[in-house]
Amino acid sequence: MKALNTSWLCLLILLLFIRLGASDGHRKTNEAYATLLYGDKFSLGVRVLGKSIRDTGSKKDMVVLVSDGVSDYACNLLQADGWIVEKISLLSNPNKIRPSRFWGVYTKLKIFNMTDYKKVVYLDADTIVVKNIEELFKCARFCGNLKHSERMNSGVMVVEPSISLFNDMMNKVNTLPSYTGGDQGFLNSYYLEFPNAHVFEPNMPSESLNNRKVPEMERLSTVYNADVGLYMLANKWMVDENELRVIHYTLGPIKPWDWWASWLVKPVDVWQNIREKLEESLPGTRGGQNPKDSLIVKFLFLFPICVVLFCCYHSYQKNPCCFGSFCRTSLFDHVRHHYHKIKSGGSVAYISISTSTISSTHEQLFNGAQYKVPAYLGGVSVCVCFMATVVSLGLAFLLVPRQVTPWTGLLLMYEWTFTIFIIYLEVISI
Ligand SMILES: *[C@@H]1O[C@H](CO)[C@@H](O)[C@H](O)[C@H]1NC(C)=O
Repeated sequence: MKALNTSWLCLLILLLFIRLGASDGHRKTNEAYATLLYGDKFSLGVRVLGKSIRDTGSKKDMVVLVSDGVSDYACNLLQADGWIVEKISLLSNPNKIRPSRFWGVYTKLKIFNMTDYKKVVYLDADTIVVKNIEELFKCARFCGNLKHSERMNSGVMVVEPSISLFNDMMNKVNTLPSYTGGDQGFLNSYYLEFPNAHVFEPNMPSESLNNRKVPEMERLSTVYNADVGLYMLANKWMVDENELRVIHYTLGPIKPWDWWASWLVKPVDVWQNIREKLEESLPGTRGGQNPKDSLIVKFLFLFPICVVLFCCYHSYQKNPCCFGSFCRTSLFDHVRHHYHKIKSGGSVAYISISTSTISSTHEQLFNGAQYKVPAYLGGVSVCVCFMATVVSLGLAFLLVPRQVTPWTGLLLMYEWTFTIFIIYLEVISI
């Protein structure tokens, strides 16, 4: 009887353990990488960041704090990628005067409330890790990187979460000034002495590291937060390229996941190379694709081709004898037909203008209306063509999904600029 009781007890304890393990579920290490996600648009950035961290061999937890604007699909995808997804509510921005895109940025302060962890390395969603940065967990209680001479940049930070620290910040959020109108300005006010902090030395021997008095804050070298803006200034990295640890894609409104960014800024290739290696965590997500965009891309590729094939088929039916050159001749006929149409229509149009404006040349023009071209038509045509090109380019740009790969984006741009241009010609010639 007693033995039975003991075994029951053992089983109960075992079950309890499994239960606890399952509900606690996520946390495996007491140090973690963390990032923030405000909306689905940045989720590809988080995927690539995660991949880049894992590629450096890190086994530490990766936590993404997601706000209300993020879809369940994006959360599931990130979870499938190996992220621990934690939902948070936005912290409202107390600053009345601020850029409108900054309404939720104070939410970043919530990383100081991640008290499940002893230390957190925070990385913005538009950064990637190109070399192991595990040494950052040895950094002081608060570490960041100085930019623009004496401002701390909040894109890469090492923090020691603590309830008292977080509450203290929350108490000061309404009183401390923020030069940016966002979290970065607030943190610069909160850690006022930061510009005087010593630089973190990653290669310090572990005994002196363990024996030292842990400083309140330390500054990180530029290699931990290498701004692409820095690259743009000199068209090369101003620090040793082999020493780079974290690249930060701060390009204003252009993000590394925009297909055109890769054609404008060389270091975006590094980002795209990692993106290409993303696994198929959920169906249709290999290489950073997303099923919705893939469908649009297929349609955009095939639609113009189908139209051309349809036209060929149509004219083949009309004239099946000369199969070899039917497309060419029918296209040629088509163009010639429109040419005549434009010529007759166009000449009528400019006669009506010329009658009202240039009376002295009126007669001459009228007589030769079918053959002579008025001088201004050249300029007007150039303008019209230029406008048509700009409009075609603009429309094509709007049609192509932003987060496709650089080559897909470029090819689709070509295809659709021509397609829209031709549609435009068709419309004006009808
Ligand atoms: C801070 O963390 C605690 C415990 O995890 C949580 O209960 C609390 O809601 C958090 N505070 C904010 C403002 O998010």
